[in-house]
Amino acid sequence: MSEAPKTDHAYDGIEEYDNPLPGWWKWLFIASIVFSPFYWVYYHNGAKGRSVEDQYGVALAENTRLQFAEIGDLKLDGPTIAKFMAKESWVKVGESVFRANCVSCHGREGEGKVGPNLTDEAYKNVAVLGDIGKVINNGAGNGAMPKWSNRLHINEIVLVSAYVANLRGQNVEGGRPAEGREIPPWPEPVVEEEPAADEEAKS
Ligand code: HEC
Repeated sequence: MSEAPKTDHAYDGIEEYDNPLPGWWKWLFIASIVFSPFYWVYYHNGAKGRSVEDQYGVALAENTRLQFAEIGDLKLDGPTIAKFMAKESWVKVGESVFRANCVSCHGREGEGKVGPNLTDEAYKNVAVLGDIGKVINNGAGNGAMPKWSNRLHINEIVLVSAYVANLRGQNVEGGRPAEGREIPPWPEPVVEEEPAADEEAKS
């Protein structure tokens, strides 16, 4: 060590050995700086779908679709919506559909903005539970409420219907005033018995 050359600095008699960083380290440092703008452009400023966040969203949606294999293609009608209203984990999928597509017009909690309040007891286009699915599928108000049949999977429409049906009666504070007319309550929720394990294996 004592053979190593010294720099010219001397402060109060304290001297400094001249130990430069190894060449490979310096080049690695420079290479990573040169690499970074390309990385940034590709992942953060490039085409949609490349960022880690976008990829996560895609993976999540794919996973949801995979789970759809479990339930098959659902029928969009009152009894099916009623059945899924009671299944918490599926209602959560409906909630994520709502958060991604509906809050801009119906508000974060369904309290209504451009679109009507979904948390009161009054509806404009809905008389029975199945109508919720129909309105979402086909749209309403001459397109003021867009149709979702070509943008969402049929199961997503059923599940978001179940979520919206569950919003009824929550009367979120500061919501839009009630529109339309008050309708009779939804049918009693259908609570299914879980099939016994051996029964499930047969079906
Ligand atoms: C561009 C704004 C907009 C978006 C986005 C939107 N809606 Fe609507 N929605 C409306 C409007 C406006 C109405 C009322 C139509 C009318 O006046 O007949 C409505 C009506 C409804 C109704 C019937 C309410 C009633 O009182 O009859 C339901 C249910 C509904 N929307 C659910 C949804 C769901 C679920 C989504 C997301 C998948 C969604 N909406 C997205 C604007 C929107």
